Amino acid sequence: MTNNNMIFVANWKMNGNFSDISKAKILNKLIKQRKFKRNKVVYCPPYTLIKSFSDNFKKTNISVGAQNCHHQSEYGAKTGSINCKLIKSSGAKYVIIGHSENRIDGETDNLLNKKIQSAIKENLNIIFCIGETLNQKKKKQTSKILKNQLFNGLRNIKNFKNISIAYEPVWAIGTGIVPKKSELERNMKLIKTYLKKLKRNNSIKVLYGGSVKPDNASELSKIKEIEGFLIGGASLNAKKFVDIIKKSSI
Ligand code: PGA
Repeated sequence: MTNNNMIFVANWKMNGNFSDISKAKILNKLIKQRKFKRNKVVYCPPYTLIKSFSDNFKKTNISVGAQNCHHQSEYGAKTGSINCKLIKSSGAKYVIIGHSENRIDGETDNLLNKKIQSAIKENLNIIFCIGETLNQKKKKQTSKILKNQLFNGLRNIKNFKNISIAYEPVWAIGTGIVPKKSELERNMKLIKTYLKKLKRNNSIKVLYGGSVKPDNASELSKIKEIEGFLIGGASLNAKKFVDIIKKSSI
C-alpha cells in the first residue's frame, strides 16, 4: 500500500524561467482528481519567480515556497538577502531550510536554528533538510549526524506545527543513487525516534529527497515512514514530476 496523503516538494534550485509556469500548470489538473486530492504539491522556484508562481497558482491546490531565507526576521541593511517577511509578502507559504548545498557553503546548525525561528514568526511552513555525507556514512556516523542536525537545528523550538523534515543523504542528491530500502527504513525510523524525543506528540512529517525519479517513486513510496518527497532534477520536467506523483499514489 502506498500513502496517498503525501507531500511533493519541487526544488528547482537555480533553474527555471517565467514560461515554465505553463508546464507546471498541467499538474494542477492531476491533483484535482479525487485520487490525488489528499496529496500536497509545493513548487520552490528561485526567488525571482515566487511572486508569479503564487499569482498563477492562487486558485489551485499548489503551494509555493522559497529555497532558503536570511536568518534576520526584520527588514534591514543586508544587501542581496531575502528574509521570511519578503518571502511571505511574495505569496510563498513554504521555505526550505538547511539544504546540503547551502550547508556546504557554510550554513551552520546555529544559523539554521535562527532561520527556523524567523520562518516560524512569519508562519511559513518549513522543510528542514538533514542528511549525512558519503564520508560520514562510511565512518558509520549517520545516526550521530542526523541527531546533531535535528537537535541543534531545532534547539529551543516550541512550535513544531509547521515543520517537516526532509531526509536527504548528501551522496544521493543528483547522483542517481538512492539508499537501499533497509538503510532508508532504518534512518527514517531513527529520525522519527529523535523527533519524538524533541516533541512528545509526534506529528511531524518526514520526507525523503535524493534522486527521486519516476522509476523509483513507486518503490520508495511503499516505505511507510516516507511521507513525501523533496525532488530536485526530476521536478524540472513536468511530465516526470507528474509521473512521480502518479506512481506514489497507486
Ligand atoms: P535531486 O535533488 O532530486 O536532483 O537528487 C534533490 C534535492 O537536492 O533536494
